[in-house]
Amino acid sequence: MLSAELNKQLTETGPGTPCGDLLRHYWQPAALSEELDGTRPAVAVRLMGEDLVLFKDERGRYGLVDRRCPHRGADLCYGRLEDGGLRCPFHGWLFDVHGACLEQPAEPATSNFHRKVRLASYPCEEFNGIIFAYMGPGAPPPLPGFDCFVAPESHTFAFKGLWECNWLQAVEVGVDPSHASFLHRYLDDHDPEYGLQFGGESGESGMTQTQVLRDYDCPEINLEETGFGMRLVTTRDINEDTMHVRVTNSVFPNLIVIPMTSDMCISQWHVPIDDTHCWWYAIFTAFDEEVDKKAMRDQRRELYTFPDYRSRINKSNQYGFNPEEQRTQTYTGMGLDINVHDQWAVESPGPIFDRTREHLGTTDKGIIALRKNLLRGMKGLADGAPPPYQLSSENAGQFTGPMAIDTTTPRENWQSEWPRHDAQKRERSLWANKSGS
Ligand code: FES
Ligand SMILES: [Fe+2]
Repeated sequence: MLSAELNKQLTETGPGTPCGDLLRHYWQPAALSEELDGTRPAVAVRLMGEDLVLFKDERGRYGLVDRRCPHRGADLCYGRLEDGGLRCPFHGWLFDVHGACLEQPAEPATSNFHRKVRLASYPCEEFNGIIFAYMGPGAPPPLPGFDCFVAPESHTFAFKGLWECNWLQAVEVGVDPSHASFLHRYLDDHDPEYGLQFGGESGESGMTQTQVLRDYDCPEINLEETGFGMRLVTTRDINEDTMHVRVTNSVFPNLIVIPMTSDMCISQWHVPIDDTHCWWYAIFTAFDEEVDKKAMRDQRRELYTFPDYRSRINKSNQYGFNPEEQRTQTYTGMGLDINVHDQWAVESPGPIFDRTREHLGTTDKGIIALRKNLLRGMKGLADGAPPPYQLSSENAGQFTGPMAIDTTTPRENWQSEWPRHDAQKRERSLWANKSGS
């Protein structure tokens, strides 16, 4: 349970709020690259309550700038992309990707007023299908050498989806390993190629991941502090000789890295749009085979509407709930897309869940630890301390992986076995760092 005051602190992310200030110290996804693929590469972006425009200039540089023109406030989303920047259609003021005002064509030719005007802008970097922005003070921190950033483009696929709830509800699902045994349970024994995220055998158990999660639903969750945040090592006793081990990561503050199949992991950010909406952004990263981007995109074209990236199955149609399916096939009765299950789980408590009403149990230890770190980070910033788990140019390269695996191991040496299984996946890969952090 949280007090109303702490709940407010953890959920409000607008400019000037303690949590908003903290999140702004880390790179955040601002858009998918595909959103700027068209003939006019400019798109509205709302991020942590700020209304912005992301555009690409003729030189291919990205600019993330305030949506309101600093002259008289017109909406720069309707701007003209020309002459090395974005031009306001109201009086023709022209801005470059850094927010500098290059021209004010109606001002006298001798005027240097344009040098005194700036449009707020944030640095951007593109990695494997996502354009990231740094909205904090000072120079942006370096990015770690994580798999999703160092993988060749051919081995990654990026996508996003809208959830209509506060960002913390979304990120808390990612540090809750026990829910998968229930929320995503499939009642039948055959492998349903469940959703778009679970798949295939779990290690050499002879069972699929969905069977393991269903049949062993009382896991032990071990938290380990790491240099990037926290590793969650979740074990399930299969029998007296065998252990199921699932290793997931919470990269502070709002990224999770989890295994998907034996060859693929998912890096997923939960980013506030404002306090009652958030995006999940994901990079799917394959270690061995190239990904079939067209197939992955086509699958999602059927499931989502564009350009709003909203699941077609959502609150307005009761998440597709079917009581007969719930009786015979799935735990939720909401179909096979696990994103829909998660969406129901995070949206149904309400836009901002009142955590004075919650009762956390043993399996919620990841949630408790994440909240503590967030509160510690907010307090530290207020006291002038550096943000927690912030990387520096000296140490950023040490952070590889992170290790993320779903496997079965002999019980007696499971602690040393699962890292070996992760290393085997890396050994097979032509591009991956041979050891993960
Ligand atoms: S309002 Fe944008 S140029 Fe005048
Ligand atoms: Fe889930």
